[in-house]
Amino acid sequence: MRNRRRCADHVGRGARWWLVPSALLLVLSGCQRTEAPPARAETPATEPDVHSFARPDLARVTHVALDLRADFDARVLAGQARLTLERAPGADAVVLDSRGLAIDRVADASGAPLRFELGPEDAVRGRALTVSLPGGVREVVVSYRTSPDAEALQWLAPEQTAGGRRPYLYSQGQAILTRTWIPTQDSPGIRQTYSARIVVPRDLRAVMSAEALTPDGVEAGGDRAFEFRLTSPVPPYLIALAVGDIAFRGLGPRTGVFAEPSVLDAAAREFADLEQMVGSAEALLGPYRWGRYDVLVLPPSFPFGGMENPRLTFATPTILAGDRSLVSLIAHELAHSWSGNLVTNATWRDFWLNEGVTSYVELRIMEALYGAERATMLEVLERRELEDEVTRLGGPASPDTILHVDLAGRNPDEGMTQVPYGKGAALLRLIEQTVGRERFDAYLRSYFDRHAFQSITTAAFLGDIRANLIRDDAVLAGGLRLEEWLYEPGIPDNAPALRSPALEAVVAGARAFEDGAPAASLAVAGWSTQEWQHFLAALPARLPAARLADLDRTFGLTGRGNSEVLFAWLRIVVRNRYEPALPALERFLTTQGRRKFLRPLYEDLMASDWGRSEAKRIYANARPLYHAVATAPLDAIMSPGRS
Ligand code: BES
Ligand code: ZN
Repeated sequence: MRNRRRCADHVGRGARWWLVPSALLLVLSGCQRTEAPPARAETPATEPDVHSFARPDLARVTHVALDLRADFDARVLAGQARLTLERAPGADAVVLDSRGLAIDRVADASGAPLRFELGPEDAVRGRALTVSLPGGVREVVVSYRTSPDAEALQWLAPEQTAGGRRPYLYSQGQAILTRTWIPTQDSPGIRQTYSARIVVPRDLRAVMSAEALTPDGVEAGGDRAFEFRLTSPVPPYLIALAVGDIAFRGLGPRTGVFAEPSVLDAAAREFADLEQMVGSAEALLGPYRWGRYDVLVLPPSFPFGGMENPRLTFATPTILAGDRSLVSLIAHELAHSWSGNLVTNATWRDFWLNEGVTSYVELRIMEALYGAERATMLEVLERRELEDEVTRLGGPASPDTILHVDLAGRNPDEGMTQVPYGKGAALLRLIEQTVGRERFDAYLRSYFDRHAFQSITTAAFLGDIRANLIRDDAVLAGGLRLEEWLYEPGIPDNAPALRSPALEAVVAGARAFEDGAPAASLAVAGWSTQEWQHFLAALPARLPAARLADLDRTFGLTGRGNSEVLFAWLRIVVRNRYEPALPALERFLTTQGRRKFLRPLYEDLMASDWGRSEAKRIYANARPLYHAVATAPLDAIMSPGRS
């Protein structure tokens, strides 16, 4: 039994397994063909990625070397991508992903031109770029330019930055946007190492999700050139670039923060625990395998809370609360250094393997650093968001509440709901509570070791947990109901119950207020950000203006600087058309571009006549501030029926 599993692992892990007949591979790896089929036979390590044109069975990209110049006037990146390939015998072409790229030329390593063809535009995937490969060609050099409206790239005018004096550029690759700035095989199952030389105006600095070989850049014909390399293979959505007036401050031996100079002090204060955070993650998950861990604080238009680009998390400035109350977001992005970056969802159907595992690990890091009470509050907030999301998606029978969600023919963005996060995390918590922490932690750590630098499907995860944790324990399997969790809609009724006495007290306060108690009578002294968030979410949807005024006067809600608390309050403001806070609402919508904040506020505004005209007026001004991944869903909200 043991031996059979080891053979199965070997087959699953062989990076070039497709080059060799499987029978030969079994012999080479010491496995007998007469044995029962390996455990992985029903749990393939790869599955076709419906969001990529790539044909890795023919030829796959193993390394990307970029040589690009950033032209801020034209809003174009131009230059070359040199791709190293692994070819299957007999394959005479490589298929790459692209979207909106102008391809000038494709050549082999010696400069001889190669025939290439751009396929028809697909609404979700973009265009296949097929390059013919004469015998022996192992490298293709694509000369290209990006489009000024490449979805991955946001080019900011100086006034859209914190400092207001220099322009800024940043990329956002996840889920399938890397193909709008790099012609490569843009699938999370096709891992690639990368290197880059980026030329920028000389008063700017370039940073990437890679080791900086020239941290201060080198002079290059009046401009500055920056060189990078990442020697561990990653899915292409993790290749990331930012260029701007970016300063650095070290926080610990292997941690630090990058930000515009005017934001650097606040960022360094907020992330003072970063070094310790890496230490707690390692204690739980095993060694941090990426060298440095730095955080880049982006301009306010950054559309996400955070993005786990390797070695360099990209983060929104809206988490700079001044009191470290929102650092769980950094714990989350750091956790992706294991769940996501080290072990990656093989396709976007398996996105919960990135986000669910990460959301669970985030809570464990928060518990280790700040105690169980804070971690439980975060978990309760997440569970409430999950329940709201299930309702929004049409209830527990909705197929979009399935962890292994069907995204064929759809933009993977549509699968990026609270389901992979909250339901995924609840599943891991269930397993932990069922087998006990000690056993579960040992399993989790071994999972990362077993699959390090690999991409994994939901089926392979199921095979792994059966082989290494459940083994033949039928009682355990019966208690977990893993198939139901992974492949059925809704939240199974064995989801662990959560209790936070602190948040229960908060809900009691909200009920008392609903029953007429004045705001000043509520015991809010010492409430944390999470308690305020929960209180505001627990208030009834409709409240008279006088009651809102009482809340606002007593607690100064409209003037809050904490983005999460302000957001929770502004949702109430919109639902009730609470006039005194409308200027603050407009300010919030025009000074940050985080999609998670924008979408619900615009959606709620669009639900009423007065709100609709407000939303349209504000959006017309604010839209240029937002990144394309925010404007795509917002455009649909603002013009229903037109898409
Ligand atoms: N990887 C995600 C961000 C993402 C998801 C980008 C899908 C593009 C497509 C990141 O780790 C994330 O989950 N960010 C959250 C914050 C987190 C604390 C839940 C966000 O940005 O809100
Ligand atoms: Zn995440």
